[in-house]
Amino acid sequence: MSLKKIAILFSGEGSNLENIIKKLHQKTFKNLSIEVVLTLTNNPNAKGIQRAKKYALDPVIVDHTLYKTREEFDKELVKIIKRYHVDLVVLAGFMRILTPIFTKSIKAINIHPSLLPNFKGANAIQRSFNSSIKQAGVSVHFVNEKVDDGEIILQSSFDKDGLDYQAFCTKIHQIEYDIFPKAIIKVLKDTSNTDK
Ligand code: GAR
Repeated sequence: MSLKKIAILFSGEGSNLENIIKKLHQKTFKNLSIEVVLTLTNNPNAKGIQRAKKYALDPVIVDHTLYKTREEFDKELVKIIKRYHVDLVVLAGFMRILTPIFTKSIKAINIHPSLLPNFKGANAIQRSFNSSIKQAGVSVHFVNEKVDDGEIILQSSFDKDGLDYQAFCTKIHQIEYDIFPKAIIKVLKDTSNTDK
């Protein structure tokens, strides 16, 4: 049996954070046991804080506005994450651009609500909905120093036809809740440490 520890970083609503905790925390999948050992947010007002607390996973809050540069903020993140000896860091709506200080020393994966490489960056759901591209979807990828870039781990797509904006958003989130836990398990099966 192998026990893998993960950290979840988030910035806002935290619905992916809660979905991952519900589906993976202290659960076993064949020979793989998963433990969420750290939750962390950059936003002291993130709704996800209350969600994590329901599972006794009180988040560490690292308010990015208190740091002069992205590098100083990232240094602090790396310092905290290293203390927990996690196997993987999961970015679940963590809306910070990360510098090489983070990306070169931490193994992390990210979820993005589009079929990458389309619609990188902010407001991806809205931009994907408004575009003339008929297919939309969700991507989970390894994190590198570019925004919403890095090797794809899992993608899932659907046809936009006939969906209004509300139904489109619901579909995106349903897919996120389905593929993110699967991608985490997939990566953990061949991961030994966050150290790159
Ligand atoms: C999710 O839709 C996620 O894909 C997106 O933020 C949302 C967070 O929702 N992430 C990005 O756009 C990353 N570039 P949540 O806080 O309810 O999980």
